[in-house]
Amino acid sequence: MRTLIAIPLLLVTSLAAQVKINGPMPGYTDMLEATIWMQCQGPCSARMEYWVIDKPDSILRTAVQDSEASRAHAMDFIMDQVVPGTTYGYRPVVNGQVVDVGQALTFSTQPLWKFRTDPPDFTVAMGSCVYINEPVYDRPGNPYGSGYEIFNSIADKKPDLMLWLGDNIYLREPDWGTRTGFLHRYTHSRSTPEMQRLLRSTHHYAILGRSRLRAQRRRCQLREQCARS
Ligand SMILES: [Fe+2]
Repeated sequence: MRTLIAIPLLLVTSLAAQVKINGPMPGYTDMLEATIWMQCQGPCSARMEYWVIDKPDSILRTAVQDSEASRAHAMDFIMDQVVPGTTYGYRPVVNGQVVDVGQALTFSTQPLWKFRTDPPDFTVAMGSCVYINEPVYDRPGNPYGSGYEIFNSIADKKPDLMLWLGDNIYLREPDWGTRTGFLHRYTHSRSTPEMQRLLRSTHHYAILGRSRLRAQRRRCQLREQCARS
């Protein structure tokens, strides 16, 4: 009987361990709040644990979120127990297990400098026009995307933040007309192995890409809702 119980438990444990993630990726950060985005490659429950970088024994935790297929299992975690001008370590916990992504994870809050000191220096990385090849849906001929090592080159510069200037993904014909297509393309790009270290290494801010704006316009035209949106 013990063996019969143990086998399903082992199966559940091993299934939980198999859920892979994209990111995590720090997003905006302010003085009393910061966000971290993460996407599970399938259904999951997840939270973030974080701590002041030199106080690893005092763990802070976000609420647990259940991923939703309607968001392609992507989640935003709000870190609301932070103070200004502080660096935190953090780690994702997926299905109750800490995920080791193979690199140290940190985020920082903005310092309260006004009326106190000069504005602090900071380094910004900027980039755009990210086409990740996906042969089954790409146009025939030479692949449009290449040079994915640029993501690690940017990470090596250790910017304080990265600004994605637009065309952060490119929609193709199968992606244009539906939310399912959108989610497919965003998920495919965010799954790029060469992009993961950069996603995890700094805070990211994005401008809505032209291709997405075009797709939104086309969708509203199809639904005759342009006047209202
Ligand atoms: Fe572009």
